[in-house]
Amino acid sequence: MTAVTTATTAHTPAVGTGHTRVEGRDKVTGAARYAAEVPFAGLAHGWLVLSTVARGRILALDTDPVLAMPGVLAVLDHRNAPRLNTDYTGLLGSRPDPTCAVFQHDRVPHLGWPVAMVVAETSEQAREAAEALVVRYDQEPHDIELTGEHPDAYPVDGHMPAVTGKGDLDARLASSAVVVDAEYTTPEEHHNPMEPHAATARWDGGRLEVIDSNQGVTWVVGELANLFSLDPASVRVRSEHVGGGFGSKGVRPHQVAAVMAATLLQRPVRVVLTRRQMFSLAGYRSPTTQRVRLGADADGRLRALEHRSVSLTSTVHEFVEPSAGVARVMYDADAHHTANRVVRLDVPTPTWMRAPGEAPGSFALEAALDELAEKCGIDPIELRLRNEPDRGPVSGLPFAGRNLTACFREGARRFGWADRDRRPGRRRDGRWLLGTGTAAASFPSGAAPSTATATAHPDGTFTVRISAADIGTGARTALSLVAADALQVPPERVRVRIGDSDFGPAMIAGGSMGTRSWSWAVKAAAGELRERLAPGAGIPAEGITVRSDTTEAIGSLTPAERHSFGAQFAEVAVDVATGEVRVRRMLGIFAAGRIVNPLTARNQFLGGMIWGISMALHEEAVRDRASGGPVGADLAGYHVATHADVPRIEADWIDDTDPDDPVGIKGIGEIGIVGAAAAIANAVWHATGVRHRSLPIRPDRVLSAAAGAPDA
Ligand code: MOS
Repeated sequence: MTAVTTATTAHTPAVGTGHTRVEGRDKVTGAARYAAEVPFAGLAHGWLVLSTVARGRILALDTDPVLAMPGVLAVLDHRNAPRLNTDYTGLLGSRPDPTCAVFQHDRVPHLGWPVAMVVAETSEQAREAAEALVVRYDQEPHDIELTGEHPDAYPVDGHMPAVTGKGDLDARLASSAVVVDAEYTTPEEHHNPMEPHAATARWDGGRLEVIDSNQGVTWVVGELANLFSLDPASVRVRSEHVGGGFGSKGVRPHQVAAVMAATLLQRPVRVVLTRRQMFSLAGYRSPTTQRVRLGADADGRLRALEHRSVSLTSTVHEFVEPSAGVARVMYDADAHHTANRVVRLDVPTPTWMRAPGEAPGSFALEAALDELAEKCGIDPIELRLRNEPDRGPVSGLPFAGRNLTACFREGARRFGWADRDRRPGRRRDGRWLLGTGTAAASFPSGAAPSTATATAHPDGTFTVRISAADIGTGARTALSLVAADALQVPPERVRVRIGDSDFGPAMIAGGSMGTRSWSWAVKAAAGELRERLAPGAGIPAEGITVRSDTTEAIGSLTPAERHSFGAQFAEVAVDVATGEVRVRRMLGIFAAGRIVNPLTARNQFLGGMIWGISMALHEEAVRDRASGGPVGADLAGYHVATHADVPRIEADWIDDTDPDDPVGIKGIGEIGIVGAAAAIANAVWHATGVRHRSLPIRPDRVLSAAAGAPDA
């Protein structure tokens, strides 16, 4: 027994001060192991075989020659794979995506569908055999094309109601002094993280263990337990370091295939996706076609607002990109109608991708607001300030903190907005036309139940355990600061262990809710532990542990409109002779709750804003109509913003501590991308006088617009 050594001197708060990542040294020295790097004795390797047709049936899989190849241990396909249970309700009440229930039937619903997996002694042998496997199909005609007025589009609820409406839209539009009616499109976008998806499954003493790279071990345990009809207590998923997720790292086909193979072979089996496979198997953002109709008085006050969005999904699962949802938060009008509809096509199931709904939705809505400002002859910031709602436009609930106006005021001051000439095409720098644009941002602020433990050790250090995920956000570091403050000790005395489902259930890294949800549980456990440690009392060798569960506390939050807000500013230079668009500077000012670690938080905002540049100017996945598959399924063919595309960018925040959160957090993971593409598109209009309503604003689109093509 050793005496307790807490709080002999005044504690300097750690939350709110910049700290480098606690695992930073491990990552840069290679000591941190990613999922595909953890060694196992007797490890076998699976290689997925993906369909080469977009629709049809598997007629034959010629497995015998492949089984005779060197090192090959097994070929899994729909004829020999274990049967899965797919009749359950998963995360957020969603039905399981049959995309992940691999090898259950002979139907092929899209190009890149897993039809088999070869397992071999080495990864190279598995790959060679997988590439040699001959699969014959009964091919059927496919349809992969999303059009705005697709006859088969239907409303889908997803995590919000598909349709909302109040007031007589047509009457209000007819009586409005100014009307905007425009269609906006965004392309298919992919969120390939740097670290490809990878999972190793093995049975160990009657328990299934999966070493994975995911956004939430609790989530993956739940899905695997359901799919394989296992007691969740007999499944352990670990995911210690994750090289990016962005919504793509939930349950995907490779984890399920790895568990199947490990079960059949009774050996550890690892399945790693290639970059190319990720374009079919990791999920993606659906393209959208959005129609926005705005009606306003001459002074810009909105009387009618309609936001309709159509996205696509696969034929096997309903996933909706809820782009019209952002209008339900941002602006009110006497007549207010929104709708999210989907079309089922012969494509892979899309999924959550950073700010699902808000990212494409804010492009359409905030670009339409800019068009309205132009038509009304009002400054675009002033237009937004005139339309600040005092309650949720659809919910009627009060806002639990809506500091959008403060973001615009601070942003305008720092960006130098006051000097701006509203008229387009007035500024020039040599061959470049210059313009500035702005847009509003919002993203829901939520928290979900989590559990955590805090342990005091005899040596005066502490260990916090929580099934959190650090997907590059710095969550592990943020949690160590939160724990340190609750314990009133320096962060150096706190170890935070994450990414192990044996630590108990916790929220995923998703919906910008991770750090908020986990901090709540960590503060509760650490705070109670500190109270339990009587000064001078001893701590036994095994330590003293306190467990927290935030289910009740979060359940008793009063209903309100809870969101982060932001104001985005961009300056662009456009060369209409070459079609080149360059972002020259960007500023984002956010009201996003208390900022736990300014160093990593700034990273999050900047990352989102850079993604906004990418979305505005570069990103576009093209599907080949003939094959139904992606063209250029790699990071050479799929363009993302790189260093040369990214100018001086600043992200900052105003004080916006959430009074209903124990730490004051709102969540920052996604809001950085919201409104960013609209600010850039609005700046391109200001530079050139031409509206670009389809992303990305490619050079050819700028050129044809300059040549006078309508709505290029
Ligand atoms: Mo995020 S798209 O909720 O991982």
